[in-house]
Amino acid sequence: MNQEKEQKTLAGTQASGAVLTTRQGHPVHNNQSMRTLGNRGPAVLENYQFLEKIAHFDRERVPERVVHARGAGAHGYFEAYGTVGNEPISKYTRAKLFQQPGKQTPLFVRFSTVIHGGHSPETLRDPRGFAVKFYTEDGVWDLVGNNLKVFFIRDAIKFPDFIHALKPDPVHNRQDGGRVMDFFSNSPEVLHMITWLFSPWGIPANYRQMQGSGVNTYKWVNAEGEAVLVKYHWEPLAGVKNLTQAEANAIQATNFNHATQDLYDAIAAGNYPQWELCVQIMSDDAHPELDFDPLDDTKIWPRDLFPWYPIGKMTLDRNPANYFAEVEQSAFGPGVLVDGLDFSDDKMLIGRTFSYSDTQRYRVGPNYLQLPINAARNHVATNQRDGSMTFRVDQAVGANPHVNYEPSSLNGLVEAPRTHVPYEPSYAAAKVVQQSIDRTNNFQQAGERYRSFEEWERVELVNNLAATLIEAREDIQQKMLGYFYEADADYGRRVEAALAVKKQGA
Ligand code: HEM
Repeated sequence: MNQEKEQKTLAGTQASGAVLTTRQGHPVHNNQSMRTLGNRGPAVLENYQFLEKIAHFDRERVPERVVHARGAGAHGYFEAYGTVGNEPISKYTRAKLFQQPGKQTPLFVRFSTVIHGGHSPETLRDPRGFAVKFYTEDGVWDLVGNNLKVFFIRDAIKFPDFIHALKPDPVHNRQDGGRVMDFFSNSPEVLHMITWLFSPWGIPANYRQMQGSGVNTYKWVNAEGEAVLVKYHWEPLAGVKNLTQAEANAIQATNFNHATQDLYDAIAAGNYPQWELCVQIMSDDAHPELDFDPLDDTKIWPRDLFPWYPIGKMTLDRNPANYFAEVEQSAFGPGVLVDGLDFSDDKMLIGRTFSYSDTQRYRVGPNYLQLPINAARNHVATNQRDGSMTFRVDQAVGANPHVNYEPSSLNGLVEAPRTHVPYEPSYAAAKVVQQSIDRTNNFQQAGERYRSFEEWERVELVNNLAATLIEAREDIQQKMLGYFYEADADYGRRVEAALAVKKQGA
């Protein structure tokens, strides 16, 4: 481009927009050319503008999430009903966001797939993440769930092995059904979850038409300090829609971002997605009368025994203004609770509670909670200081800036007064390292799920399982078939038959 033309272009740009600057606030007069010795010559080192621009570009990525890397997000609000069935919700929880009918709480949601990388196809068979960040008056509450209501494993120490088995092979870098089935065959507690996953429920049609579930068991605590066990469920008001494998393949042939696109376009068009939040409630004990442990996340709490009570509604009405700042840097954690909500003893939940904030300090940085998408919108005042990328001091207005410790008599921060009876459960148990909770019952709910599916879902399930099983070694196939037979004889027979057909074709 000759100089005259170049200047015209720049003048045109300036006329129609704000002036381009560097991060140091210097105007950029030429964003098209490096500084060189002569216009054919080598570049010189005092090329500050060029060096800064490239150096920043070189650092544009943060590590992607170790799981759930591929995601889409949206802003919205939660509106409380104030009741659980016919009772005021205060009977069970003192959490402020739930109390007043019609009370609105702003929130941010991130949906995701689990196993593959940041730009992997959204048509893949995978659980879908369903993470909600509520910016409540009492601080942030994250409800970090999935679309499916159960999970593969029930002890957090197995999570890295489980993920390694499903991630691409460390040698040839492809997902391998042989490795997947190897892990599954040695972890029979997966059977209920994989019965969901290999059915059409493993490929939701989009993010708007899928359920969400907290999966793990939490507690609610009321003003008297009494607790109950709860499970959370999101029910899409647009209904549930899942895909057959063939439908997913057809979409993927032309569009591997269909779910992100669907969410963005729906919100941009004013077709705001909505979900009702429901809870199931159980008294806080071991429930020996049940054939499963209420803290076992491979189990559903049967709906006929533990009804779903609607407690509020979520509406997503705003797309992110910037994907990286809001979606990529958002950081959710199952341990992020507000007063009136509490942990259960579910050992998966406790394991998760450490993992998320730990990875976020690495992935985003130690001050990730100062980023606008993650920051609480109520009063925040801490004595946490410094660390990389500190851009604010979490100090209270009028507090002594010299005091970054507590206790102090010099006008530092003071502990919050207790406004409620604390919830203090007591324990009398040996400290052990044991395989699992006692009532494993690995196959019953898998069989019930199989029988509850419609015929087209069963056809999909057995074919999808056979398509992955074919990649496994013969003894692993036999072990898996044994599990399907234990869940339901018809289930076993049909997977075996589908596998035999695949073997003939192979
Ligand atoms: C012990 C078991 C588990 C461990 C150790 C674990 C660990 C993790 C980690 C390290 C991340 C990445 C977080 C980040 O970089 O911001 C993550 C993301 C996520 N996990 Fe888990 N996870 C576990 C089980 C589960 C279960 C049972 C669910 C469903 C209830 C779940 C749902 C999610 C979701 C939705 C995300 C994505 C959050 C987002 O959108 O940023 N995880 N998990």
